[in-house]
Amino acid sequence: MNNFEFKNPTKIIFGKDTIEKIATEIPENAKVLVLYGGGSIKKNGVYNQVKAALSQFETVEFGGIPANPEYAVLMEALKVIKDENITYLLAVGGGSVIDGTKFLSSAALFEGETPWDILTKNIRTEKGMPFGTVLTLPATGSEMNSGAVITRAETQEKLAMGGPGLFPEFSVLDPKVIASIPERQLANGITDAFTHVLEQYMTYPIGASLQDRFAESILQTLIEVAPKVLKDPTDYTATADFMWSCTMALNGLIQKGVPTDWAVHAIGHELTALFGIDHARTLAVIAPSHYKFNFEAKKEKLAQYGERVWNITEGSLDEKAHAAIERTEAFFNELGIDTKLSDYTKDYNGTAEKIAQRFTDRGWVALGEHQTLSPDKVEKIVKMAY
Ligand code: NZQ
Ligand code: ZN
Repeated sequence: MNNFEFKNPTKIIFGKDTIEKIATEIPENAKVLVLYGGGSIKKNGVYNQVKAALSQFETVEFGGIPANPEYAVLMEALKVIKDENITYLLAVGGGSVIDGTKFLSSAALFEGETPWDILTKNIRTEKGMPFGTVLTLPATGSEMNSGAVITRAETQEKLAMGGPGLFPEFSVLDPKVIASIPERQLANGITDAFTHVLEQYMTYPIGASLQDRFAESILQTLIEVAPKVLKDPTDYTATADFMWSCTMALNGLIQKGVPTDWAVHAIGHELTALFGIDHARTLAVIAPSHYKFNFEAKKEKLAQYGERVWNITEGSLDEKAHAAIERTEAFFNELGIDTKLSDYTKDYNGTAEKIAQRFTDRGWVALGEHQTLSPDKVEKIVKMAY
């Protein structure tokens, strides 16, 4: 195992009917900006629960943060924060609303020229405006990590930011909110969390047995609950496991002491930026090609994953590893997720070259766990995914 340091300061409040507890987490004298998305919270009762809990607080609202949180919209929210002298942010939504809130937490205290620099100049946020979250969509893990991904339509960019100042102070995880999530978003959530684990696991063996088994147990749990959650999102037992699995998949724990990859996400974000494809679906498009292209470097972990997670016990190490990639793609398909770029757009010619060029321009010339994934290799992977 590699040396590591681990600190995660986010308080998790998990369980049925726990949204009311936000009242005891937010400082009494706070002026709170409640941030939400396109309005799902007004149809499923979450908004009313939040309003009731905040009845004793001075609050302002900002709705309309779109999926893939848009910089231009967030800049409107930033104006509200400044004009209204807001002191505390509350995100009520999925990854997009939470990520948008993280950007605002950072931008509210940012002293540089333009907040877009936070993303393009990789400025880490050491201190942000304090915020909490009420999670409405299990998927990203944003509710318990310090990262965010922000989109700018004007330039077709989707860039990441983060830093120790961007952990939520608390996150409320009530699995009952899952009941109203459309099937497409449930499938996205399962796929995103599954791929988060793969990015931190599908590298090379380093003798970190406990980390491997944490990762494998999250994958196994997601596989087990996926059909139940899709069939009946009111199944509390299944949705509780689903929600906690998504949080555990990307709260920092399983990446400690082990090599990580994250190339699937780096490439996938470009597909969202260029074509607006749902985040999770871009991962399902890239992951199989990525694992096939980097087969030699990853085959030991692929075979271990195949054996332990999918019970693939027959054949040589190479055969098990190949079978594991096929089984993963089949799993995404079973969730209703297409795994080829051509399933999403007819306009894909030139995409691979464009992404490779962007990576070159940004100096992203050595991705992957061995820092050997150069833009020309990225180009080949994307072409394999057409
Ligand atoms: O906007 P509303 O009306 O709320 O509807 C949302 C949205 O349309 C809807 N939804 C959410 N909760 C619901 C619900 N509908 C009914 N009932 C509920 N309870 O679902 C739609 C998608 O929401 P969104 O927040 O966009 O989804 P997700 O949580 O998958 O977040 C995706 C974003 O997170 C980023 C992605 O790139 C993408 O921008 N990621 C953030 C990460 C992080 N911070 O650690 C890591 C991830 O890898 C990812 O990159
Ligand atoms: Zn993701």
